Amino acid sequence: MCGILGYLGDGETLSILFNGLKRLEYRGYDSAGIAVLNKQDVFLIKDKGTISEICKPELFSQINGHLGIAHTRWATHGEPNKDNAHPHFDCKKEIFLVHNGIIENYNTLKRFLENKNHKFISETDSEVLVHLIEHFYNDNLEVAVSKALALVEGTFGLIVIHKKNKEMVIAKRGSPLIIGVGEGDIFVSSDAAALIEYTKKVIYLEDNDIAVIQEGNYSIKNLSGQDVIREIHEIKWDLNQIEKKGFKHFMLKEIFEQPESLSNVLRGRIKNDKIKLTIDLNPSSLSRIIITACGTSWHSALIGKYLIEKIVGIPVEVDYASEFRYRDSIINKNDLVIVLSQSGETADTLAALRKSKSRGAQTLGIVNVVGSTISREVDSGIYLHAGPEIGVASTKAFTSQVVTLLLISLFIKQNQGYKLDNILLNEILSLPEKVKIILDKQDDIKKIAEIFKSKNNFLYLGRGINFPVALEGALKLKEISYIHAEGYPAAEMKHGPIALIDKEMPVVFLATNGTVFEKILSNIEEVRARGGKIITVTDREDESIKRLSDYVLYVPKTIEEISPIINSIPLQLLAYHIADLKGLNVDRPRNLAKSVTVE
Ligand code: AGP
Ligand code: GLU
Repeated sequence: MCGILGYLGDGETLSILFNGLKRLEYRGYDSAGIAVLNKQDVFLIKDKGTISEICKPELFSQINGHLGIAHTRWATHGEPNKDNAHPHFDCKKEIFLVHNGIIENYNTLKRFLENKNHKFISETDSEVLVHLIEHFYNDNLEVAVSKALALVEGTFGLIVIHKKNKEMVIAKRGSPLIIGVGEGDIFVSSDAAALIEYTKKVIYLEDNDIAVIQEGNYSIKNLSGQDVIREIHEIKWDLNQIEKKGFKHFMLKEIFEQPESLSNVLRGRIKNDKIKLTIDLNPSSLSRIIITACGTSWHSALIGKYLIEKIVGIPVEVDYASEFRYRDSIINKNDLVIVLSQSGETADTLAALRKSKSRGAQTLGIVNVVGSTISREVDSGIYLHAGPEIGVASTKAFTSQVVTLLLISLFIKQNQGYKLDNILLNEILSLPEKVKIILDKQDDIKKIAEIFKSKNNFLYLGRGINFPVALEGALKLKEISYIHAEGYPAAEMKHGPIALIDKEMPVVFLATNGTVFEKILSNIEEVRARGGKIITVTDREDESIKRLSDYVLYVPKTIEEISPIINSIPLQLLAYHIADLKGLNVDRPRNLAKSVTVE
């Protein structure tokens, strides 16, 4: 799911590419590379590691040039090493290419090219592209790229340059690609984060677009050769929002931004006891809702099931997008398919969306990144307005997703002709304030993190609407601290995981007030009886909780529908502090990337 970047203009090309690449590292960071064209020389630097490890700023003033391409990689084919790092080049070392995506028929193409004496250096799928372009090249790069792409199966966002010409040829299918239009200079990138420092004017390319970028201008066609018109959009956020603002990590900053991100997702959406959403949802024609997503977004989807079934009474199915897309899922015309994605680029979620559309279902997207592929392909959508989320572990997007699902449930109920419950609406509006109260208790959570940071396993247990919160708490911990953690429905524990409990096992319970409070107390007793170390998140001053738990984390009182949002905050902080105390790279955990644009 790499990040790619290209620049053509009079600025300091190497430093622009270097800085932009650093902002794209959330997409992958196992290797990186840059190629800069200066007259007819190409400066090429690439290796395993991040761009800061590979390219030292001393080089900036030594390398002149006004055209360059760059890549930060998350390997799909071939281990992270120098040869497999991008940019890749052809046999004559004249054509250079960066690629995001997967070339599915690369083996067939490679055999074809090897028979024509092309020599391959890497084990990547991407390298076949550059040799295929070389094969078709006859003084016109655009024509060669078009001919090559006609033979390609799979996904690509790519930038190609030839050392003879001051131009970039770019194309996309299935991977995001945008053009940034500056004052005289032009940028190409997987994501606006890399170019926001220089321009806010962007063009989102569509699948099968191919564009030629030359000094100060660009032309866009589709791969069948027809001219296409793509509008220029103005980005509404600024650089400030993608910087750390004094926090040690982006993840911590994003956890602390939640009072603001929750206010943003609510802004203008609750007025005069009514939910205002600009979507068209007619409950009488809705027989079923399917929610599909991956990872953390899948956890909010699961909370959405509890909310919608409780508030609206329409059956909801929740499916991993990666399963939904390939199984014989039954999708009817009267189904509403909700796709949830922070990035709006997750390959499996996008495929699930396309499958649902092709079966005639109505689709609704809940997305954070404005202009992302999913946001553009859904029939209707709601933006989270959480601001850029850079930390690989999703935090503020998660809580905003849950709020959005709650708003959707209430919106459908309102459309069914019901008056909405004032208490619930006021509780929703008080969320930013309540989250702030938990954030102020960060030090209590840090103390618990200190005590448990060396454990090898964790269990997270919750029931009902807080069962998905247990799953999310466990995912947060494992992805950034590398501690094995499992989330489980608390009552299911006795059907297996209870065997794991001994005095070495920390068990985090979600025991806030609600329909299953008494039941969860019994589950805490069961763990206590087996010597597990109990950390309880609760909003109740309850004697049994104090007696049974080794540590209690108090959260502000709220109602059950809101509790998943409140309860997930201490779990985010616990995971963060454990990982930080272990000295790990919280924002860039190993093997992961922020945006999973490959399946
Ligand atoms: C979250 O902490 C994860 N890193 C990951 O599970 C993520 O939620 C998943 O990849 C889905 O991403 P999306 O919301 O951008 O589609
Ligand atoms: N398939 C390419 C590689 O392994 C690009 C990977 C990606 O876009 O994630 O280098």
